Amino acid sequence: MKIAVLPGDGIGIEIVEEAIRVLGALDLSFETETALVGGAAYEAHGHPLPDATLKLAKEADAVLFGAVGDWKYDKLERSLRPEQAILGLRKNLGLFANFRPAICYEELVDASSLKPELIAGLDILIIRELTGDIYFGQPRGRRSAPDGHFPGAEEAFDTMRYSRPEIERIAHVAFQAARKRSKRVTSVDKANVLETFQFWKDVVTDVATEYPDVELDHMYVDNAAMQLVRAPKKFDVVVTGNMFGDILSDEAAMLTGSIGMLPSASLNASNQGLYEPSHGSAPDIAGKGIANPLATILSAAMMLRFSLNQPEAADRIESAVKHVLAQGLRTADIWSSGSKKVGTREMGDAVVAALSLSTIKKTTTG
Ligand code: IPM
Ligand code: MG
Repeated sequence: MKIAVLPGDGIGIEIVEEAIRVLGALDLSFETETALVGGAAYEAHGHPLPDATLKLAKEADAVLFGAVGDWKYDKLERSLRPEQAILGLRKNLGLFANFRPAICYEELVDASSLKPELIAGLDILIIRELTGDIYFGQPRGRRSAPDGHFPGAEEAFDTMRYSRPEIERIAHVAFQAARKRSKRVTSVDKANVLETFQFWKDVVTDVATEYPDVELDHMYVDNAAMQLVRAPKKFDVVVTGNMFGDILSDEAAMLTGSIGMLPSASLNASNQGLYEPSHGSAPDIAGKGIANPLATILSAAMMLRFSLNQPEAADRIESAVKHVLAQGLRTADIWSSGSKKVGTREMGDAVVAALSLSTIKKTTTG
């Protein structure tokens, strides 16, 4: 098992370090190799995704990714900005299926800005298509407007597009995931306005005929944004396109109290995957040792389950995380009075310590 470790920028470095320590405490053997990505790679090699980093990622069974970006790169030309690294990895590795679970841990019900009764027990899985849509559609650019309200004016444009096979494969991922859960899928679109998303809806409906045991409903994205804060527990598996998924997954993350808790997995057709916390590089708190490492630690658990075929080890990590939350340990982002505020390292230490508890070993071997 080979893991490419790409910590990136900002808090990426300190949170990935904790995830690696947790993996190291599992008595599994894997090879890890670390490389620069994002702003750090730009500083050292003049590009956010150097060839050597991409090669390492391609050759690995899985990529453990921290976060990239810093405001200081906002003025660079687009192709050199840190975000291009993650987009380049998604595209080059064909990571079309992005899993973003939003689970509200019992202990963190009060950390959410929503009323406890709305989110207690919340367990949503957002499945976001990750290599198509307006993120990657061509053509795009700036030009003199050929028509429109102001012909000849300077304008910018992007292209929203999806092909049938692209929609079909993500729909299959969603229906199959739903089969392992409560057998319900909500497909989110904007079919009332956009041709691309009328097509999305039609194709998802076609694929649904192969899954008569799964209930499918459709929702417009504006309504989905509203329902997510009104009655989030009505959702189970949500499948949507790249841009809507970007937005809705941040919204869903906040339901759970902190984006600092949410892992993610991005998989290609051969289950090779990139695993990263759903949050960004948080340059404002980088290097202070206060960032929450749990999203990254939980991403490492997803990596064990999806790409490395070690489901028991994944269970052990997840149980250990629950255990430290139950102990009352909290990083600043999820802290509330009465709980014990800890830093990044202490949180990592606590997870490592919890891994060796007999109860946690037992839940996973039994
Ligand atoms: C995400 C991020 C990325 C995205 C950025 C950093 C390119 O917001 O993973 O959700 O828009 O996909
Ligand atoms: Mg995002």
